[in-house]
Amino acid sequence: VDPTEADSLIEADTAVPVNERFLTQRILIKGGRVVNSDYSFDADVYCEDGIIRQVGKDLITPGGATIIEANGKLVMPGGIDTHTHFQMPFMGTVSADDFYQGTKAALAGGTTMIMDFVIPQKGESLLSAYEKWRSWADPKVCCDYSLHMAVTWWGDKVSQEMEVLTKDKGVNSFKTFMAYKDVFMLNDTELYHTFNRCKELRALAQVHAENGDLIAETSKKMLELGITGPEGHEMCRPEEVEAEAVNRAICIASQTSVPLYVVKVMSKSSANIIAAARKKGHIVFGEPIAASLACNGTHYWNKCWRHAAGYVLGPPLRPDTTTPGYLMDMLANDELQLTGTDNCTFNSNQKAMGKDDFTKIPNGVNGVEDRMSVIWEKGVHTGKIDPCRYVAVTSTNAAKIFNIYPRKGVIQVGSDADIVVWDPDQTRTISKDTHHQAVDFNIFEGMECHGVPVAVVCQGRLVVDEGVMHVTQGAGRFIPNPVNSPTCYSKIKRRDELNQPKAVEREAYEGPVYDPSQKI
Ligand code: URP
Ligand code: ZN
Ligand code: ZN
Repeated sequence: VDPTEADSLIEADTAVPVNERFLTQRILIKGGRVVNSDYSFDADVYCEDGIIRQVGKDLITPGGATIIEANGKLVMPGGIDTHTHFQMPFMGTVSADDFYQGTKAALAGGTTMIMDFVIPQKGESLLSAYEKWRSWADPKVCCDYSLHMAVTWWGDKVSQEMEVLTKDKGVNSFKTFMAYKDVFMLNDTELYHTFNRCKELRALAQVHAENGDLIAETSKKMLELGITGPEGHEMCRPEEVEAEAVNRAICIASQTSVPLYVVKVMSKSSANIIAAARKKGHIVFGEPIAASLACNGTHYWNKCWRHAAGYVLGPPLRPDTTTPGYLMDMLANDELQLTGTDNCTFNSNQKAMGKDDFTKIPNGVNGVEDRMSVIWEKGVHTGKIDPCRYVAVTSTNAAKIFNIYPRKGVIQVGSDADIVVWDPDQTRTISKDTHHQAVDFNIFEGMECHGVPVAVVCQGRLVVDEGVMHVTQGAGRFIPNPVNSPTCYSKIKRRDELNQPKAVEREAYEGPVYDPSQKI
């Protein structure tokens, strides 16, 4: 976007007039504590033209710079949400947060980059789906973004297009679905081929892990039993149905020696399987989401249908109320590595498409705006993780896994000026009435969170300043994710050299061979 044109699109979200403070390309964040994933220290941070130019004590204020006073506050890399579905056509409707409203909400909450999924229909060209998603996102995104590609069918064309996507289109991750039978689901053979191709291209294989065949059968059974409400959604896909698929996905990935990324870890059992596989040396990453770290599945039994339906997503939240705390403990100990949201929102009238049949409730929840607060509250405020680990699981690990580090995910000279200034002493209460998302429901309604993003800098521009927002549609850029991420592939290269399968050299067998065509 031409910057002049972008400026003319600036939206004043409040009565505060657009002023120089929001337009300047020079920002000095003064007197804060810089927190990176490995180390925190007191320093000023100076940004110019979208890049961090200086980090150090008592920096001189350059002329024309906007100053952000950060005394007593933390200065952290902006959040990276690895998992969103903005304006996604799904289950007969389109998710409510589009790329404008979704990225604006992200910024409001301290997330300065999102990763969305291109999801082609079965038989559809991956490249044309990619262009479609770019045409939806590019004019609307207020922050930087990148794209994962879903593989929903298999064939030579898919294999060829995967190569083009990695070489020319900035895609380094391919998501497969083990659920949504007849819609997005792949069988084991197709999973094997997709994972194998990811390996050849040095891309990352991603998986939505749930046994879709079982879900198709058990959901019919629930309906036959007269269970039509949202509780049926959980009851036909209990946690073993998620865990079985996680185990199978790791097994298939292991046969192709590809790094595997399990999206939205929702249960203790699947998290345990990921942790056990990592212990054995598998390169597998687990992504719990804001919902699974803060909510449990008892909501599905709520007497209010709309409330219960608001929590329907796949895999579902778990009725075991100790699940969120358990997943947070695993995130703290690097048994799980990073966080997304699976933000895929539907308004009441959209959810109501399934009022008489839970299988028709569009699956998805919010999270993009509240992830940073929720993880601070449930992780740092509870003493489970320290601020450095918080930065790792909300930003740095995503940048490393998707191979855009150190451009993103760290406060250091030369990195993109995507920064959140965090006040750990302020609190806010989450509500659908005050959030910036398009959706009319919030799964974290009423949660009081310590830690507030008091200022957000995105691409070197101040976009959030003490609750006032000035975002620019289309100002976000598409960020290509290069293949061969060292975090995913450096160990694999050496392992492949050592583990090359070899045939045993032996004398040819010379004895008799049974001929089945001969009568005995
Ligand atoms: O329930 C969910 N997660 N909806 C979005 C589609 C998906 O599975 O990622
Ligand atoms: Zn999914
Ligand atoms: Zn998803």
